[in-house]
Amino acid sequence: MTRNVIVTGARTGIGLEVALQFLRAGETVLLSSRFIDQLPKENEEIKKFIDGGHAHLQSADLSTMEGCQQLLKDGMKSLHNKLDVLVNNAGKFFPVGLAKTTPEQWRETMALNLDAIFHLTQGAIPLLAESKGCIVNISSIGAHRPDPGMTSYCVSKAAVDMLTRSSAQELAGKGVRVNSVNPGVVKTPIAEAAGMSREGAQQFQENAAKINPLHRIGTPHDVAAATLFLADPDKAGWITGTNLVEARTWPFEELKEWSGWAGDEIQPFLFEGLPAKTVQRREVASMQQRSQECVMEEFQSRHKLAAAACWQASPAR
Ligand SMILES: NC(=O)c1ccc[n+]([C@@H]2O[C@H](COP(=O)([O-])OP(=O)(O)OC[C@H]3O[C@@H](n4cnc5c(N)ncnc54)[C@H](OP(=O)(O)O)[C@@H]3O)[C@@H](O)[C@H]2O)c1
Repeated sequence: MTRNVIVTGARTGIGLEVALQFLRAGETVLLSSRFIDQLPKENEEIKKFIDGGHAHLQSADLSTMEGCQQLLKDGMKSLHNKLDVLVNNAGKFFPVGLAKTTPEQWRETMALNLDAIFHLTQGAIPLLAESKGCIVNISSIGAHRPDPGMTSYCVSKAAVDMLTRSSAQELAGKGVRVNSVNPGVVKTPIAEAAGMSREGAQQFQENAAKINPLHRIGTPHDVAAATLFLADPDKAGWITGTNLVEARTWPFEELKEWSGWAGDEIQPFLFEGLPAKTVQRREVASMQQRSQECVMEEFQSRHKLAAAACWQASPAR
């Protein structure tokens, strides 16, 4: 049977590709963003799905609670009060360092990246419990690793990961699964939407490709494929509360070895307005910290395995 899907932030980038992959798979999709009405002019394929009655458009500003509530209320009229999958994708960032982040920018980041997911998740609980449906949140690798000049963004995404795990635990009893996809840098208009120049955005993506273990940045297709996998009850029906990281950036020492670079040559993410040297030192420091964390994680997981082996071998058990 056809599933009903809501995708937020679906006018561009990852959200648009997620919506298209669901539509091509035969699902019915409600696409939402502030300016979603512009989409039929921008995308021929979507137009065909709208004409066929499979795609519905719903404008909403999700940075307010009222906008989130309105999306569910109006959206459910188009979807006949049935919801199977909620993809919380809308998000943004301000490429400014902590010292220059204004309270308004901090609030705006939290309102869209985090609060909207809380409001939509809460509002969708009865519908998803009815359908035994699922939620996929589009988080970021920034949830796990501080990126220079992106503190508010990384904090919001770290909170999204915990919201994902907490809601997965709370909603499991209702048969609702909740997971997140945590991509590295993906080729989308997000940097330009954040006010970076086209050249600045391109430089940012090129540098990100260099420190990526697979030596390329992601595509919206990569993220959409992972999203559809997590939303598929046949493939991922026993997966909940996971934060699926795509192409995790490697610890500093391995990165140096694989890339063939010396540490002081590493070109970090270059944000306009930030002196390169400052960013470089900070990025290197954060990689070294991550490297230490990985050693600790490995130690802890070996310790757990050893503990489990002892428990199994114990004659008293
Ligand atoms: N691109 C990356 O490198 C990357 C990496 C990791 C995670 N992500 C995450 O992936 C998600 C999608 O990002 P993207 O890269 O595809 O960026 P994008 O192309 O800029 O998409 C963002 C979408 O959000 C919508 N939006 C912005 N403000 C909104 C608001 N107040 N209310 C409702 N919708 C709003 C935009 O449409 P309108 O302008 O029409 O509202 C747009 O469709 C985000 O959560 C982002 O954090 C991206």
